[in-house]
Amino acid sequence: MSEERTENAEERLAEIAARVRACTRCDLWRTRTQAVPGEGNPRAEVMFIGEAPGYHEDRQGRPFVGAAGQFLNELLARAGLRREEVYITNVVKCRPPGNRDPLPDEIAACAPYLEEQLAVIRPRVVVTLGRYSMARWFPNEKISRIHGQARRIGEYVVVPMYHPAAALHQPALKELVEKDFDKLREIVAQARAEAAAAADAPPEQPQQMRLF
Ligand code: URA
Ligand code: SF4
Repeated sequence: MSEERTENAEERLAEIAARVRACTRCDLWRTRTQAVPGEGNPRAEVMFIGEAPGYHEDRQGRPFVGAAGQFLNELLARAGLRREEVYITNVVKCRPPGNRDPLPDEIAACAPYLEEQLAVIRPRVVVTLGRYSMARWFPNEKISRIHGQARRIGEYVVVPMYHPAAALHQPALKELVEKDFDKLREIVAQARAEAAAAADAPPEQPQQMRLF
């Protein structure tokens, strides 16, 4: 990857973030302290998408910095990922008052920002955290049925995970999400290998590896 390309992605993400911080497209702007556009590596291979900022995120303007964020950091380590090498954002960029669930019109209003971020970063692997980001790729699925299972959807390998905040206080779920993140290490390695094989294969040959 050229440095120029990285810089360009960085600039484009910064430009999206500036629009998010000034955004008034849904009513959540009225109660936010600050918007939380997302953060991380502009050329991340793995992108994590949560639900919405909570209290601490709204205060700091950064995603996953509260208790759920501490747990996410532990989960990243299990998957062999450093926080700086991935990209982390949310479906909705401003905190819903009292941490209530985001409303359908808020999700719809905010969705274009997430789509732009995906288009700039173009991660190999997308990890959805909780049901709102899962719904972007699996609108009719249940997390209890498909958690931890990688599926290739278009250009992404998508892995739906339980939300770390939900898992944090439920020992049974915590164990499940920990096991799923243990498997994520292998999923990322396979996605890399598949991309490398596709890049090496002569264009007239069918792709040899189909892992997802
Ligand atoms: N929960 C989320 O879904 N996102 C955050 O950024 C923090 C907590
Ligand atoms: Fe804009 Fe999204 Fe914040 Fe609503 S939640 S004000 S759409 S950035």
